[in-house]
Amino acid sequence: METPKEKILTGHSLRVDSQDLQNFFNLTGQLLTLKNLLLESPEISKISEPKLKQGLTELHRLTRKIEDCALSLKLSPIKALMLKIHRMVFEVSKKANKSVELHFKGEDTRVDREILDYLSDIFTHLVRNSIDHGIESAQERSALGKPEIAEINITTSTKGREILIEFSDDGRGIDRRRVLQKALEKKILDPGENLELIPDEKVFSFLFHGGLSTAENVTDISGRGVGLGFVKTTVEKLRGKIKVKSIPGQGTTFLISLPIDTSILDVLVAEINKIQYLISLTDIEMVFLQEEFKIYQIPNSKRFIMKDGHPIPLIEPGSFFPKSTEKTRGKETILIFSQQNNQYGLLVDDLIYQTQIVYNPLPPNLAGKRNFISGSAPMSTGQVSHLIDLNSLVDHHLGLE
Ligand SMILES: Nc1ncnc2c1ncn2[C@@H]1O[C@H](COP(=O)(O)OP(=O)(O)OP(=O)(O)O)[C@@H](O)[C@H]1O
Ligand SMILES: [Mg+2]
Repeated sequence: METPKEKILTGHSLRVDSQDLQNFFNLTGQLLTLKNLLLESPEISKISEPKLKQGLTELHRLTRKIEDCALSLKLSPIKALMLKIHRMVFEVSKKANKSVELHFKGEDTRVDREILDYLSDIFTHLVRNSIDHGIESAQERSALGKPEIAEINITTSTKGREILIEFSDDGRGIDRRRVLQKALEKKILDPGENLELIPDEKVFSFLFHGGLSTAENVTDISGRGVGLGFVKTTVEKLRGKIKVKSIPGQGTTFLISLPIDTSILDVLVAEINKIQYLISLTDIEMVFLQEEFKIYQIPNSKRFIMKDGHPIPLIEPGSFFPKSTEKTRGKETILIFSQQNNQYGLLVDDLIYQTQIVYNPLPPNLAGKRNFISGSAPMSTGQVSHLIDLNSLVDHHLGLE
């Protein structure tokens, strides 16, 4: 039954010192690590005494609840951004002399407050792009039989511990031909390639490399060609994913998925050169033992496997990660993941277990691309393990860094 106190507090907010909140989050993190240390220790897993066993199960259940509570304290409705985006659409469309209406759905979707600041930057670029490159002038739209007032739609929703964002405009769509032309100029594409055969998804993904502005002039709004490169790096910094779809004459849609909070993460613990690394579980689509596949190699090219009739390039960090003299005895495993609509196989020496960690992102000054690490976490063994940055591994594989 609801107590009178609960009744008074329901639906009300309280001011809390942010340092107190931060202390609470840190302590929750430590509690979670300690719980993992206990529950994963081999001695404890041998315990058969019913009362102790039940106590441990209860400890697990309670830490989960505390963790959920801490998470909900960190979350803010995305609504907090709405006013800012409305103002931005109003100002940018006025400057560009275009009529645009913004529709926002899912304003109650909640997300880590830290993520809100990043989202605001992401939306700034997407709004500018839509108005500058996508949306036609009112005259052009009416000549095309389109409603004179253009629309930008932002829809957000929650799926498990992820938020999904759909950002779309009903403008002219991305000009495939011009993107291909720019990609050839920038040598991202091999001139010998049959351009007709490259799927749209791949063409549009070139835009995320940055430096691929198709704008003829640098305007107040855009034209430096860093916009989408910045958007992609920001999404990846938050361990999210971004995709783009576009239909000529009908518009462009960006699909973004982001983890709801920045710190707690389900990971696979894998061994490479006798050192344990962490890999975010949400990034991994499938796991296979290496022995299930034959590894192919074309001269002067990297190794790959064939799966369902398609080649999947193998990324082999063992050849460039720190080495140990000890011989690995594990079972070589291939972890399949996707980046920009392409699948890759990460070859590791052994897959050890799955766990949950409290993740500390690398400070920006250390998050250099070369070390292939995006953060670290204290493990139940008391050691600190590093989280592998799959994006930088793919960039390295493609020779992009
Ligand atoms: N909503 C959109 N509709 C149509 N084309 C788009 C859209 N968004 C991006 N583009 C295309 O993608 C290209 C790259 O966009 P990006 O934001 O990276 O660079 P930019 O806008 O040209 O310059 P800036 O760095 O100043 O943003 C654009 O030049 C344009 O051709
Ligand atoms: Mg732009």
